[in-house]
Amino acid sequence: MRIYEIKGGKPLKGEVKISGAKNAALPAIAATLLARGVFKLESVPRVRDVFCMLEILKHLGGKYKFEDHTLLVDTTSIRDTVVPYKLASKIRASILFMGALVGAFKEGTVPLPGGCKIGKRPVNFHISGLTKLGAEICLDHGNLVLKARRLKGRELVLDFPSVTATENLMMAAALAEGETLIKGAAREPEVVFLGEMLKRMGAEVKWISEDTICIKGKKNLNPCEIEIIPDRIEAGTFLVLGALHKNNRIFLRNLPIEYLETPLLKLKEIGVKLKKQGEAFLVKRKKELSPVRIITQPYPGFPTDLQPIFAVLLLQAKGISKITETLFENRFLYVYELNRMGAGIELEERSILIKGPVKLVGSPVKATDLRAGAALVLAGLSAENTTQIYEIHLIERGYENLVEKLQTLGADISVKTLNPDES
Ligand code: EPU
Repeated sequence: MRIYEIKGGKPLKGEVKISGAKNAALPAIAATLLARGVFKLESVPRVRDVFCMLEILKHLGGKYKFEDHTLLVDTTSIRDTVVPYKLASKIRASILFMGALVGAFKEGTVPLPGGCKIGKRPVNFHISGLTKLGAEICLDHGNLVLKARRLKGRELVLDFPSVTATENLMMAAALAEGETLIKGAAREPEVVFLGEMLKRMGAEVKWISEDTICIKGKKNLNPCEIEIIPDRIEAGTFLVLGALHKNNRIFLRNLPIEYLETPLLKLKEIGVKLKKQGEAFLVKRKKELSPVRIITQPYPGFPTDLQPIFAVLLLQAKGISKITETLFENRFLYVYELNRMGAGIELEERSILIKGPVKLVGSPVKATDLRAGAALVLAGLSAENTTQIYEIHLIERGYENLVEKLQTLGADISVKTLNPDES
């Protein structure tokens, strides 16, 4: 078993380049199914979830070549439309093959997905939207089996702006007859990015209001070249790291400030600012940090993926902060782990109360999901003594070269392989 071992408390200095966004790369890989030929995707992060999506693509008959961060995907010989359970159970984003397969082949079998256990995460919006476009969907032994004689554009309304449901509907609509309106659509930058990719492939995609997308489907789409947008959640993680210690001097490159408006406003309230220096941004903080109130919301609100990360920073603010999670009912599991390190966070039903400042003490802890794991890494870096983080494969799902990036900044973090009797 592999774990991270961190000796915390050291001030960190240096520059980090933010990688391409995992949550933009995953739908982009699914969308390659919509056209036959060779796609070129640039700035693709080399993370576990991306490789898992590519394994599914390969299983369906696709080919890929990954060189550095350039990914060539060849969909010429894709014939199979059954996503295998073994791969789908590893990754939530495998649900994105629903829209892509039924759009491209008018059929598909997609297991109910696995992924991070942060809540119930139903797929009813995906099913009802695709059904309205003309797909027949039934659940057969844990698999969603999709069939459509034809897909026909319609007006769809999402009761909640689900990110992957919007993406699934966009992909199916791009090869449906006529016009599809998706009202109540998610407008995360990764959703807008998928719209750009579909446009490059030949579909007509237009945002007609802040939460309504109009898509005119085409009979055929063509492969395209596109660069993945920077990862706003990785960026938020390093912004917090920059502010975690008074003497940290971290410069961030490829920082997508345009996607980080709400987190940056919160950081300002906490006492953290950015200073532009050439191409990079330096994270600067006040000596004393202030407590804040955070409520997670769909974009452009405060991202749920950053709430565990901000909780670690708020442990260093003087006073009581409150974070309320409105998207996923099980996203506070990391609190039990932080409390093992002495955080003393109080957990209410959908909120946590953080009383700072707190001196964290290193201890063995377990990543319970991807972002929870990243939060524990930050906690370990700000704690006294040694922190050992278990279940690091969850962190590797979405953070590219995290250990190497932190080591470049001078962090004392290493990957340790435990003997079976130690683990
Ligand atoms: N929901 C339903 N029914 C549905 C779909 C969603 O009730 O059919 C509910 C969910 O239960 C949740 C809310 O809608 O309460 C929002 O979930 P959403 O569908 O937007 O989440 P997702 O598409 O499954 C994506 C990201 C997550 C991120 C969320 C919210 C990808 C691959 N995943 O998930 O990313 O937390 O949007 O922004 O894009 C991560 O990267 O760590 C991660 C979990």
